[in-house]
Amino acid sequence: MSNEMLGTVAHINDAKTAAPKIKGFHHIAYRCRDAEETKKFYVDLLGLKPSAALAFDRDPGGQDRPFMHLFFEMGDGNFIAFFDEPTSASDDVFQMKDGIKDYHFAFEVETKDELDAFIKRLGEAKVPVFGPINHHFCHSVYFFDPNGLACEITLKDEKHDEIMAEEGSRAEAAIKAWTAKTKAIKEAKLKFFQAAD
Ligand SMILES: [Fe+2]
Repeated sequence: MSNEMLGTVAHINDAKTAAPKIKGFHHIAYRCRDAEETKKFYVDLLGLKPSAALAFDRDPGGQDRPFMHLFFEMGDGNFIAFFDEPTSASDDVFQMKDGIKDYHFAFEVETKDELDAFIKRLGEAKVPVFGPINHHFCHSVYFFDPNGLACEITLKDEKHDEIMAEEGSRAEAAIKAWTAKTKAIKEAKLKFFQAAD
């Protein structure tokens, strides 16, 4: 896919239509190695609801590539989704992801008992769990799914909203300061990559 399709912030001042409120995620979607294995992890182990398992013979471009699109429902009615498309699945797609270098996602529970129960349950199922880590605004445990995805389960601290309100009031200034602090590193990297072209 070409970089010409990348989003840009170069023309945001031309956008005169007010942004409507985004309510939340409807779903986030990842690839999975195997629909059955992924169902076992998210439904049988983590307790999500199997909401849809849609099998197709062709990809959206009309190519003869069978795939299954899975939707597992969380307690808020939103979904984590997966594609099982074996004809194009190379093994490196399923290498363990680094929670910072790559990405991770965080499920939320409402009580400390629920967080503790997940730590116990994952341990019983021999899934390695890291944490809990006290991030002050939330408390998190980390583990990997069978597809190499970095998962987090987090519990909001009782001071979560207070901390976020305080952080939120200085977020714009913090981003400006960070941009100034990292500008030289980013420009040097850009020059390095341009020289390599
Ligand atoms: Fe996180």
